Amino acid sequence: MSNGVSSHPEEPARPETPRHVAIIMDGNGRWAAARGLPRGEGHRRGVEALRRVVRASHELGISYLTIYSFSSENWSRPATEIGDLFGLLRRFIRNDLATLHRDGVRVRVIGEREGLEQDIRALLAEAEDLTKDNTALTLVVAFNYGSRQEIAQAAQRLAREVADGKRAVETITADTLGRYLDAPDIPDPDMIIRTSGEQRLSNFLMWQAAYSELVFVPIHWPDFDRAALEGAIAEYARRERRFGGLAAKTGS
Ligand code: IPE
Ligand code: IPE
Ligand code: MG
Repeated sequence: MSNGVSSHPEEPARPETPRHVAIIMDGNGRWAAARGLPRGEGHRRGVEALRRVVRASHELGISYLTIYSFSSENWSRPATEIGDLFGLLRRFIRNDLATLHRDGVRVRVIGEREGLEQDIRALLAEAEDLTKDNTALTLVVAFNYGSRQEIAQAAQRLAREVADGKRAVETITADTLGRYLDAPDIPDPDMIIRTSGEQRLSNFLMWQAAYSELVFVPIHWPDFDRAALEGAIAEYARRERRFGGLAAKTGS
């Protein structure tokens, strides 16, 4: 496995880099409040953290990075904050898409597109289309995303196929349902990181997280950087993944 880790020569090469890291980027508001700044400033600094982490993920040999950018439940925030978050997404795509493309990043988007303003939908589609042949790193943006909604949509599509006589009920297995989720070709996350000290999934990738290692870090998202990501990967490497079986002999 290619692994560009070189900044910590005191540590041996890590046995295992997670192929897919998903991040619940939390704590922007508390980061700002602790500094007497408006919440929007926390979100702006959060975008800078995102840039650092995309770069570091690529350098560290991660293949898929999923980021929780806006949840289905975040609509319950004040309109001004929702406006800030949507403005940042627009600016992120407009300003960073060319760089992401140059760096070989493929952008994918999961979540509900209907109900989003047309210009945002166009930007998301443009990002996916421009970068569709890139292979260095896949950046999955979970925007207007909720895991329960994603699973319910999959159930609806399967139910429609049954109602239309195109599918037998018995063919619906866990594998089938998984194939009807938003990004069925992307492997489940090996590790889910949540920043800010909160320890919950908040409707993020609940189906896909069945065997993900959960890593909770106390720092707020705007302070997250390459070192913090390396720390989370080191924690991941110490975990023993069993998938319901027995402990594997690691040989180390
Ligand atoms: C994460 O930071 C960003 C989004 C949820 C969009 P928060 O805005 O949730 O920050 P806290 O949790 O209030 O500190
Ligand atoms: C989860 O964070 C959503 C995103 C990071 C986009 P929240 O801050 O919305 O989650 P809760 O409300 O604390 O569970
Ligand atoms: Mg939060």
